[in-house]
Amino acid sequence: MSETARGEAAEVLSRRRFLNRAILVLSGMIGAVLSVPILAYLLSPLINRPPNTWIDVGRADQFKVGETVQVAFDDPSPLEWAGQTARTAFWLRRTGEASFRAFAVNCTHLACPVNWLTAAGLFLCPCHGGVYYADGSVAGGPPPRPLPEYDVRVQGGVVQLLTRPVPIG
Ligand code: FES
Repeated sequence: MSETARGEAAEVLSRRRFLNRAILVLSGMIGAVLSVPILAYLLSPLINRPPNTWIDVGRADQFKVGETVQVAFDDPSPLEWAGQTARTAFWLRRTGEASFRAFAVNCTHLACPVNWLTAAGLFLCPCHGGVYYADGSVAGGPPPRPLPEYDVRVQGGVVQLLTRPVPIG
C-alpha cells in the first residue's frame, strides 16, 4: 500500500471514528432530553401528593350499630388517566352511637378487595385466602399487615372519612 493510500485510509478511519462519537453524543443528548418529561410524568404522583380531604359518607343514622357496610368513594389520585380505577371503596362499621371505624378494602398482600363475612365476623380475601379479624388484624394467610384504617368523624350528624390515596404497596 502506498503512502498516499495509507493516509487516505487513516483519514477515512478518523472521520468514521469522529462520526461514531458524534452519533453517540447526539443519541445521549436526545435520550437525556426525552427522559426529563418521562421521568417527571412517572414521578409526579410521588411529588404532587394530593391533600387528604374529609368527604361526606352519609347521615350517621342510616348506619346500624354493629353493622359493617361497603361505601364507595373516589380515590384522590392526581393521575389524569386513573379513570374508573380511581373509584374505590372502604368498609365502614358503626361501633357505637357516635363512633365509627373504616377499613381499607384492599388486602395488604397484593391489594385484592376483601369481602366482609357477617356470619363469620371476618374479612376474607378471595385471591389467596387472606383472612382478617373484625378489627382488621391478620387472622391467617399471606397478608403481612392488618387492614389499613381511615380516620372517620361525625360532624353535624354526617359521617365523614379522611381520604388518602389507596393504601397499597
Ligand atoms: S391479595 Fe389478599 S391474600 Fe393475596
